[in-house]
Amino acid sequence: MKKITIAIDGYSSTGKSTLAKQLAKHLGYVYVDTGAMYRAVTYFAMQHGYINAESFDKQSLILALPSVQLEFHFNADLGFAEMYLNGTNVEHEIRTIEVSNFVSKIAEVSEVRSKLVEQQQQMGKGKGIVMDGRDIGTVVFPKAELKIFMTASPETRAQRRFDELQSKGQNVPYEDVLKNVQERDYIDTHREDSPLLIAEDAVEIDNSYLTREEQFEAVLSLVNEYLQDLN
Ligand code: DC
Repeated sequence: MKKITIAIDGYSSTGKSTLAKQLAKHLGYVYVDTGAMYRAVTYFAMQHGYINAESFDKQSLILALPSVQLEFHFNADLGFAEMYLNGTNVEHEIRTIEVSNFVSKIAEVSEVRSKLVEQQQQMGKGKGIVMDGRDIGTVVFPKAELKIFMTASPETRAQRRFDELQSKGQNVPYEDVLKNVQERDYIDTHREDSPLLIAEDAVEIDNSYLTREEQFEAVLSLVNEYLQDLN
């Protein structure tokens, strides 16, 4: 059975990772959450005082980049790979609202992007990969066999993120989550290097009114169509 590369891009909190995980599990593919990599660099920058609410010392971060080592380790109990920063599991630390507030600034830095894109391309060399992010179908794997672009209204997405934070015991007002979603949309689509764009050959899915199952079935039939032609 030939394997393909599946690129999933879209706005924040559109359920990209849920879909990507479902697909990878079903197909026996590797799942890579590239947002986790940008979040881990952000957490690194926070730990070293390069970024805070008042300032961002971009040059110091760029100089320190060679000492940022990112790895994914598969957690069999959870069924997906967790993010490690310099040997430490940072899955929990990178999902906070503080990291979400700073991550778009970090993701604007070209030196950060080129380091992470190179690592992502290495991970995808053997195909059989589902990768989600913002620039996967446009920059990381422009030749991916299947490209999905996911959208949903900002309110729907903020509600989803709010519920997720609540379930983790993080009590953040809904208005703050909505504001964060809108700000990230703006920065993600307006940055100079690799802005969030829909690839010409991507299939757009608006999941505002789709259940997880409906969405999964829709995408799976696209995958199967492609695989049938290929094998
Ligand atoms: O998918 P996420 O919300 O965890 O991503 C966190 C941030 O990282 C998001 O605001 C944009 C950035 N990002 C990016 O610029 N390119 C990617 N391939 C993935 C994420």
